[in-house]
Amino acid sequence: MYVGVDYYPEHWPETRWALDAQMMQKAGFNVVRLGEFAWTNFEPAEGCYDFAWLDRALEVLARHGIRAILGTPTAVVPAWLAHRYPEVMVVDKTGQRRTWGVRKDTCYSSGVLRRFSQAITTALATHYASHPGVIGWQTDNEFGGSNDCRCPACQAAFQDFLRQRYGTLDELNRAWGTHFWGQIFRAWEEVPVIVDTNGQNPSACLDWQRFYSDQNVRYQGEQVQILRRLCPRHFITHNLMGLAPDVNYFNLARDLDFVSWDNYPVWGRPEVRYDAALAADLMRGAKHKNFWIMEQTAGPCGWGSFNRNVRPGELRAVAYQQLAHGADGQIWFRWRTCTAGREQYWHGLLQHDGKPNRRYLEAAQVAREYHLLAPLLEGLSVRAEVAMIYDYDSLWVTRFQGSFEGNDYREQLKRYHRALFRAGIGLDIISPADDFSRYKLVIAPELHLMPDALARRLEAYIEQGGTLLADVRTAVKDGTNLVHDRTLPGLLSSALGIAIPEYDVLADKAEIPLTQGFAGHKATLYTDWIKPTTAETVAGYDAWWLTDYAAITRNRLAKGIAWYVGTIGNTPAFYDGLIARVLADAGITAPLTPPPGVEAVVRSGQGRELLFLINHTEDCQTVPVPTGRKELLTGTTTATTLTLDRHGVAVVQLR
Ligand code: GLA
Ligand code: ZN
Repeated sequence: MYVGVDYYPEHWPETRWALDAQMMQKAGFNVVRLGEFAWTNFEPAEGCYDFAWLDRALEVLARHGIRAILGTPTAVVPAWLAHRYPEVMVVDKTGQRRTWGVRKDTCYSSGVLRRFSQAITTALATHYASHPGVIGWQTDNEFGGSNDCRCPACQAAFQDFLRQRYGTLDELNRAWGTHFWGQIFRAWEEVPVIVDTNGQNPSACLDWQRFYSDQNVRYQGEQVQILRRLCPRHFITHNLMGLAPDVNYFNLARDLDFVSWDNYPVWGRPEVRYDAALAADLMRGAKHKNFWIMEQTAGPCGWGSFNRNVRPGELRAVAYQQLAHGADGQIWFRWRTCTAGREQYWHGLLQHDGKPNRRYLEAAQVAREYHLLAPLLEGLSVRAEVAMIYDYDSLWVTRFQGSFEGNDYREQLKRYHRALFRAGIGLDIISPADDFSRYKLVIAPELHLMPDALARRLEAYIEQGGTLLADVRTAVKDGTNLVHDRTLPGLLSSALGIAIPEYDVLADKAEIPLTQGFAGHKATLYTDWIKPTTAETVAGYDAWWLTDYAAITRNRLAKGIAWYVGTIGNTPAFYDGLIARVLADAGITAPLTPPPGVEAVVRSGQGRELLFLINHTEDCQTVPVPTGRKELLTGTTTATTLTLDRHGVAVVQLR
């Protein structure tokens, strides 16, 4: 098992390298990631390469048993490159070319950039293909969130992308509904770039986001092709950003052997690390495969001011959370805090002084434990009975048009996810294109964009015995972001056994009490006015104008059950109650119910089953556990309960 740090030998005098490597080895580290911002060190002048410095660093590391993942160094172009070829820089929304000097600000349509990116990748790959210290590659660094360009080359590339997608102008005009506001295109060259997602055509905005995502995928693909050809022995991965919204990670992951991700739980509130759990499940879902942590916060972080320091035990708890969710490699960002540059206050394991400290010792403890657990973890992953659909198209279009104030696609997923977390139930995050039949329960929050084929697949899933949970704003739009001309929820009406002739927003924090099965809870933000056809009403609205309508419904369809939740519940308890009922319908039970703030995750496979318990709180916690099992970190045998220290963790071998 690989455990280590992100290391920047080029930031420190060469005389220090041996001590760094020695300290890493002593901590049990056996891997570093190197080089992802070092293009100018590798290519100090156009076409002149220098790998000698990295060769020497790798040699020092190898002497201490440390192997390396190399980054293709393209996240920042050398100053000479931007100076000589200004067209590689991004043009922003106002038409201004961005000044060189941050990073990730180059144009992926630029032929010059792509040529240089391929050349440096080829040179590096050729040099390190058979180097014994190198085990794999990270492409670039954190695709998405930047490199968004509106230059003429990007406009032409966007038009090409649309030509590929729609074939004819007539079809583009139809797909985008350009009859509105007289926007009909008579030539491809007329199609503009998108600079205003609040004002421009929503269908165009969706395709622009898809184009942006594809540009990133293509740019990575060009590097991957080179690496595959020249370095067949090496793995290729990329450091994704968890729940970051801009790139479709299912697509970005396709070219990779496995994904990695950068986990930056901000130290401080909220203490219960729900989001890191959800992000980990998405990262695992990107390829239905375990993943690596390529960067994990190691200290106080911030570019201007920094946030609070890590309390004792927190580094370890956060690492174990990821291990539980399927991390097969663990790398802290970064080894030593840099004395120069924008990240002077983004702390690594070591402070600026480079001395072994408390955080270093805690990371070393984790490394030691991981190496002991490694043989038992081999081949184990989370095997969930619940899936939640994560649809980038629905995420994107609801960012352009939220439908109702306060609507947030990812927040909606989190409501269900947190309830599952509290219930001690593991889940997979899946793409709408994935196979649903592997799961007893599929949760499909706000599946706003609903091509007909997807509606039919969901219906078939229910018919064949699945349990589906759908909710507000489902099936409003078609695949090109035009509104369906059907009564909601469109093609899913018969599967869900309902029709929604009208809907309403609840403005100004208005709330409506719910009735029947959810009496005591309240509807907020939005209400679907549901007319059940074959569905039973589980809850109604206690409002004089809504007495004829249902709020929550449940429908039997052939062998399956379909739930529809036509509002947003006012508290986590609402979602706890809802999830409990839906899980019961799906016949899913938790191995145990953890106390609040304790996370329970099972990794299984190879006839083994390991239960991870992570205490996210600052109090001791007592967890009910199966008796007579081995707790692997202490070597003790479990009684009926197990006590976790503040931020404590335990790994119980159930089988
Ligand atoms: C990201 C980057 C790193 C570093 C950290 C901290 O995750 O990948 O290079 O910048 O953030 O800011
Ligand atoms: Zn561009």
